[in-house]
Amino acid sequence: MSNYLNKRYRSAGLILFMLLMVVISYGQPGSRRTFNNDWQFYLGQTDESVHHATFKGEGWRNLSVPHDWSIELPFDKESPTGTGGGALRGGLGWYRKVFVLPEADKHKKHFIRFDGVYMNSEVYLNGHLLGVRPNGYIGFSYDMSPYLQYGQQKNILVVKVNNDKQPNSRWYSGSGIYRNVWLESSSGIRISEWGPYITTPGIRAGKAVIKIETPVHIDKPAGAIYRLRQRLFDAKGVQLLQSQNKFRATETTVNLQQELTVTRPVLWSDENPYLYKIVSEVIDDNNKIMDSYTTRTGIRSFYFDADKGFFLNGKATKLRGVCMHHDLGALGTAINTRAIERQLEILKAMGCNSIRTSHNPPAPELLDLCDKMGFLVMDEAFDMWAKKKTDYDYHLYWDQWHERDLRDHVLRDRNHPSVIMWSVGNEIIEQWGKDSSGAVILDKLVNIVKELDDRPAITANNEINTYNNLLKANITPLIGYNYSHKYWDSVHSRWGKKPFIVTESTSALQTRGSYDMPSDSIRRWPEAWDKPLTTGNTDTTCSAYDNCATPWGSTHEESLKLFQKYDHIGGMYVWTGFDYIGEPTPYPWPARSSYFGIVDLAGFPKDVYYLYQSTWTSQPVLHIFPHWNWTPGQTVDVWAYYNQADEVELYLNGQSLGIRKKQNDAMHVVWRVSYRPGILKAVSRKNGKIIKEALIQTAGEPAAISLSADRKQLQKNKNDLSFITVTIKDKKGNTVPLADNLVTFTLQGDAEIVGVDNGSQTSMESFKALHRKAFHGKCLVIVKAKNKTGLIKLTASAAGLPPATIELQVQ
Ligand code: GAL
Repeated sequence: MSNYLNKRYRSAGLILFMLLMVVISYGQPGSRRTFNNDWQFYLGQTDESVHHATFKGEGWRNLSVPHDWSIELPFDKESPTGTGGGALRGGLGWYRKVFVLPEADKHKKHFIRFDGVYMNSEVYLNGHLLGVRPNGYIGFSYDMSPYLQYGQQKNILVVKVNNDKQPNSRWYSGSGIYRNVWLESSSGIRISEWGPYITTPGIRAGKAVIKIETPVHIDKPAGAIYRLRQRLFDAKGVQLLQSQNKFRATETTVNLQQELTVTRPVLWSDENPYLYKIVSEVIDDNNKIMDSYTTRTGIRSFYFDADKGFFLNGKATKLRGVCMHHDLGALGTAINTRAIERQLEILKAMGCNSIRTSHNPPAPELLDLCDKMGFLVMDEAFDMWAKKKTDYDYHLYWDQWHERDLRDHVLRDRNHPSVIMWSVGNEIIEQWGKDSSGAVILDKLVNIVKELDDRPAITANNEINTYNNLLKANITPLIGYNYSHKYWDSVHSRWGKKPFIVTESTSALQTRGSYDMPSDSIRRWPEAWDKPLTTGNTDTTCSAYDNCATPWGSTHEESLKLFQKYDHIGGMYVWTGFDYIGEPTPYPWPARSSYFGIVDLAGFPKDVYYLYQSTWTSQPVLHIFPHWNWTPGQTVDVWAYYNQADEVELYLNGQSLGIRKKQNDAMHVVWRVSYRPGILKAVSRKNGKIIKEALIQTAGEPAAISLSADRKQLQKNKNDLSFITVTIKDKKGNTVPLADNLVTFTLQGDAEIVGVDNGSQTSMESFKALHRKAFHGKCLVIVKAKNKTGLIKLTASAAGLPPATIELQVQ
């Protein structure tokens, strides 16, 4: 029987999914401007007068969006969002913006675009309802033209955001207009809102044919003649090619197909994310540019192979992935491009090359950055379908909205070179049950995706047994498993020879700087997936040795080993890259944020970060831990992650504690040491030659505050941020590993402190305060530049320590 199966599937399995060559891109319409400023905000119930010019606005606050009101609220044990939602409340919120448009704009069409509002938004203009959108993660726009007033008359835009029905999410969702808002205008003729759709069927003999399909909308089709011009620019901005076609505007939508042939294209990849630019322009017979749309484009091919995994531009490339939720730590969910870029920089330096946007459409800026920085993306649509996970979640809106939401998601994101697959569901409840609704829904979703794009669809399954309705229906071209690492090798015998992705793995638990010994005994917390934790640590920490994990997951090393070992695993997405607010497994209140991250909520790497870095990068790594402040005589396990060396020797106060070499498939080495204070030094060597050294010293009492900024030069008017790490040091400059000094911040110059954090999962301090206790020696302060150039000075003070200052320059 098994021979028969092998034979039957071998040929089909060789290359089950292949995309020969795709050019994909992202873009922006030419006539778009930001609509983020000068909003008013109110939390609570208001009345009809909100729509009128006579409105008093008492108790309302002026602010700019993106804005997340939940992050400003105190942690609250009684919050109906639960600790799963970060113990931060939702509620009912109102945004209001008053604006005027010049008389000269009367002939134009004006659209208001929201990249995302959480959730249940209702948008009104001058008292008229423009539309409602329940989904909190999808972008949408409305034509405001029918209700706009011009000249001196004021327009009143009101957005009601109802995030009051709780719980509606398994993680911290944030609340409000948390993504960008745009005003898009056009004069009678315009390129479709998502821009042209750009693909290429193949690359041969050093050529790529770019196919450009551009829907053009005409408000009053009267048969006038226009030209649609496409210009291709290289990454330096040099124009390479141009093509134009005339068309007659006889219909309300004209769909035009054009081609550009690029010779010797530079291919886009995770290692060389080369982007071209295509400028599409509609030009009238007086040579006037009526509309333009700029699209960044990458040329690359990829396919998934059942035996050999993922191939990018013909090269086997493992998807070294992490799952990410959308909050940005202390900033909440209010999107900030620099904050996302910093997360990606930290992940890139770890060797990660792929992101899963768990479990919802991401901010457009995330995908722009993935295109630019070279990340491959599993773009996910839904965490539930018609069957609920929480009482008030999207299942309530499923029937009416899923088709529209999925379409808009794919249309919005299909032009990004970074996107390589669509996940249409995470751990969907319809996996189980006797009815066939799961397969019916899946079939529909996959068909929607196929109609709009060639990239494969996948579902993330936590049921891997043969009664899983979705896998059994054999609809998706890829198989996705969440967890179940013990069965990764048997996926083909269960489900046939299809390409395989570990859509989610690990769920290990760590608190930065906490260490439970002995380090080789693994804690599975909670003890069973459906039971609360009965053991655990009284201080609600989890050990940062890789020795604490959920029972459905694994330690980092357990799953990473298998991922590295099996060629048929095209990608693995570790749960999670960063800690996120909410889902504080394994602890209840007062824990309020997750322990899953490889990096903590403040952006400080946990030790396991270096396990990945030593496996996934070619830079020399030697990382030893824990800290060196213990009780004399105590037995302490010292771990090292290293690469490019064949041994590591550890010394305590100059005395060798022995040489260790990784045994078999182990990814770390350990010394069991009787603690004495002093200097712990590790040396890695290859063929006797020193590759790297690492040093930890016993720290004394806190004596100084040290400040270090990820960026000292900031740009004005760009919401640019500096993330400043605060470290408590002893008088010799060693980090004090258990320091918890309260640090207070003051700022001089045209800037603002927009967040503070320390990575502790149980801190009840506000992310918006001007002070923070250090946690395990560190905390973080985030400074945002405003509109003026000049010097910014941040001062950090703590009782008993001399204050420290750092200077930033805004340009
Ligand atoms: C998975 C789920 C994630 C997260 C994770 C925690 O089952 O897909 O959203 O809840 O578990 O381990």
